[in-house]
This record gives sequence, structure tokens and C-alpha cells, in this order.
Amino acid sequence: MAGGAMVSSVGPNKSYSGGMTFYVFWAILVASCGGLIFGYDIGISGGVTSMQPFLMKFFPSVYEKEIGVQNTNQYCTFNSETLTLFTSSLYLAALVASFVASTVTRKFGRKISMILGGFLFLIGAVLNGIAFNVAMLYIGRVFLGVGVGFASQSVPLYLSEMAPCMYRGRLNVLFQLMITIGILIANLVNYGSDKIKAGWGWRLSLALAAVPALIVVLGASFLPDTPNYLIDSNKHKEAKAVLKRIRGTDDIDEEYNDISLASEASKLVNDPWKKILERKYRPHIIMAALLPGLQQLTGINVVMFYAPVLFKTLGFGNEASLASAVITGGVNVAATFVSVALVDRKGRRFLLIEGALQMFIFQVIVGSLIWAKFGTSGVAMVSQPYAIGVVFCICCFVAGFAWSWGPLAWLVPSEICPLEIRSAAQSITVAVNMLFTFIIAQIFPWLLCNAKFGLFYVFAFFTLVMASFVWYYLPETRGVPIEEMWSVWKEHKVWGKYIPDDVMETEKIGKPSEEV
Ligand code: BGC
Repeated sequence: MAGGAMVSSVGPNKSYSGGMTFYVFWAILVASCGGLIFGYDIGISGGVTSMQPFLMKFFPSVYEKEIGVQNTNQYCTFNSETLTLFTSSLYLAALVASFVASTVTRKFGRKISMILGGFLFLIGAVLNGIAFNVAMLYIGRVFLGVGVGFASQSVPLYLSEMAPCMYRGRLNVLFQLMITIGILIANLVNYGSDKIKAGWGWRLSLALAAVPALIVVLGASFLPDTPNYLIDSNKHKEAKAVLKRIRGTDDIDEEYNDISLASEASKLVNDPWKKILERKYRPHIIMAALLPGLQQLTGINVVMFYAPVLFKTLGFGNEASLASAVITGGVNVAATFVSVALVDRKGRRFLLIEGALQMFIFQVIVGSLIWAKFGTSGVAMVSQPYAIGVVFCICCFVAGFAWSWGPLAWLVPSEICPLEIRSAAQSITVAVNMLFTFIIAQIFPWLLCNAKFGLFYVFAFFTLVMASFVWYYLPETRGVPIEEMWSVWKEHKVWGKYIPDDVMETEKIGKPSEEV
């Protein structure tokens, strides 16, 4: 990770001085820990909701179904609205919080938003760890959700603004890498805490969320804010110093000027929410909303939240279910490294299309395997080789997601928008992601009970839609400087007509461009 003054060749018509420095790498690594809190929560809830002492205490009717007091087919064991609301309430809170975070991030900085996110998450972790009734459980989850909303709004922006553009893809993917590490750690914690005979393992699982929260709060306190935010809030001296330090060179004038021009344009905008409705931002807003929405329609969170539940449905024992969740979690982390390696070489489009097709194939196979065994009655015994086959296919599906739509549905929205709408657009991304996560979490147990194996075919259908969407509509953004993105939209055959001819010039001198 050498520092020093190398020239990064960027975009069709730009090159900035400076390369990757240890300092920027370190700052990005610390900031990306914001992904840990998100991931920890995703991984912990599925495991906790499959622990019997937890169910007995808070959701006795689900417990009774599970131990067979009530008769039910296996597809329907976990179909309880209160239980799913436990998982999904967090996402509603995160959705609302992401809009508040947009203003905080824009006005007070990316750093403050990250610290606030960590702090609120910490409160949620404590409340959940000591919960003695369902109300405390839910209030805790609202705090956790607000924390996740703030962190996922500010961290991807921070990463994209700090990174040298030629490494932006792989550095931004660190956010997703931390999400996956958070999920895996949570899976391991669940595996261990389930073994605590005294029945308080679930408390340990929930309370340990405080650890990643503390890492975020303490880590982010030592970070500089991004040059883009500093320039935007008239802290020019500090901005120059940060830019020199993160690029490892004194020759930062060109990049500094480009950010300043973008900031001038951005200052003319009083209300980014009104601005974002202008025609020239149509492509940005569509991508900011559709990429995270489609990401969730892959069905990934059925695996992430409910892997232990799903494996139990398949007839695995308690321990085997949690162990399988650890396996899928491990594959999720490992495959994200593939994205780190390829995203700036092969580009965003290649990964998104390949990943979608891979997910399609394995969703269809998983659906068919479950169909063949459980049919529609949902009653079956599965042999060990059969179960291993299902877990293997789920792993291939997870890998396809982990190197494509997982990281890129965060990366692309954070890099395509001009400064004046960047924070608002990122909130749309977070809000849509959370909304769809909420919907999927909420309806999965119901869908599993009613659509049965067909559920997997529904998700498979969406992955095909996703591959075609990227093929036709998403331009390649690899290596293009973030403040030069207009040229990418202008050259695109579908989106070009939305972008005024003079947009590049007018944006730079800060005049609103003519509408086409
Ligand atoms: C998604 C999460 C998902 C995770 C899995 C993230 O990009 O937004 O919903 O659980 O990836 O690794």
C-alpha cells in the first residue's frame, strides 16, 4: 500500500495526482466497520429466533408449534407475525432514520452521522441484552434500526468520497465485507451461545452487539471528515490538508478544484429533495432506488435471517442448523473478496450480470430439491447427502450474491450522484433497501407456508429481471472520478437524452443548467 505521488489515470478525460496511501486505507477500513453493526444484526436475529429459551420467554406460541404441541406442516412452523416483526421492526426504524441521516450527513458531516449511528446502536444492544419483556425487545430494536440507518447512509458516502477513484470500487466493497464479517461473527456467537445450558445464551448474543457499536463510535471519532464535506462547509484549509494526506502528495489542486466547483453548484441547492426531482437526475434516482430494491428481491435475506429456521424446516437438528448458518456465513465473507479483487478490473456490469445469472441457476435448483422432497404437504425426512446438497446449492447462491449485488447495490448508488443530491440519493438507497428487507422479512415465513418451494422460483424470476436491467440500463462507472460522472450518463443511449448538453460546463460554474 505504497504512498507517494503516482498519477492515477482516471475517466476518459481526467487524471489526478496521488495514489493509495496507508492513511486513506486505514481511514476507510475504520469507517467501513459501520458495516459490522448492520451485519451483526442481520446474522444474530435468525439464530436467536430459533433458540428455544428465547421463544419460550417471548413467543410461547411459536415454541409450542416447534416442539410439536400444535400440529403443523414444516413449511409453516415459524409463521408467526410477532416473531417476524421482531426481525423486521429494525428495518422500518432504519428506513425512517435514513432520511434524518441525510440532513445530518449533509449539514454536520459524514463523520458525525457515523458516530451517531454507532451510539444509537449501542443503546439498542444494551436494551436488548437486558430485556425482560417483549416491549423492551422492540424498543431496543428501534434503536438498533436507527443506528443501522445512520451508518448505512453515511459510511458508503464516506468511502466513495475518500477513495482515490481508481480504487474506489474495491475500497467501497469493504463496507459490504464488514457486513458479511458481522453476519459471520453473529452466526458463530449464536452457535456458541445456544450451547449455554442455563438458557441465557440469547441475552449474550443480543448484548454482544455492543462490541461492534463501540468499535464504530471510537474508531470514527479519530477519522477526518471527507474533503468533499469540508469544502462544502467552507473549511478549505482543513480540506486541503486532508486531501494532501489521503492522496500522499502536495499536488492536489486539480482534484481540489473539481470538488470546489461541485460544491459551488451544490450550494445553490437549498432543498436537495426538490432538486432531485429535476429531469436531469432521473437516471440517478432510478438507480438509487432500483438497485437496492432488486438486491433484496434476490431473496438473500431469506438465507441470512432465516438460514437456521430454513435448515430446521428441512429437518436439521438445532446444532446442525446453526452450523449450516455458519457455513453460509463463511461463504458470504470469502466470496466478497472476489468482488474486492475484480470490481475495479472487470467492472460493475460484468459482476452484476454474472452474479444474477448464478443466483438464478441455484435458486431454481434449491426450489426443485425442496419440491422433490417436501412436495406441497411439507412433511418429509431428508437424508444427510440430500441435506448437504441443499446447503451446497445455497452456498453457490450466496457466493453469487456476495461478489455482485451484495456490494455493488451499495457501491454504485454512492458513486453515481453529483454532490448536490448525493446525500439525499443515498438516503433513498438506504430507505428502499430497508423497505424491501422489511417486506421480505415480514412475508417470508408466510410465503414459505403458502408458496412453499415456489418461493425460490419467485426469487429466481427476479434475478433474471436484474440481469436484463443491468444489461440495458446501467452504464459502467469503473475508474470514472466521482465528480465527472455526468459524462457517463450523457454518453448512455437510454439516459443521454435526460442530460442537458451543457451540463458539464454549467455544473462547474455553478449555474443551474437548462432543462431539456
Ligand atoms: C444487504 C443485506 C444482506 C447482506 C448479506 C447486504 O448488501 O443489504 O440485506 O443481508 O448484504 O451479505
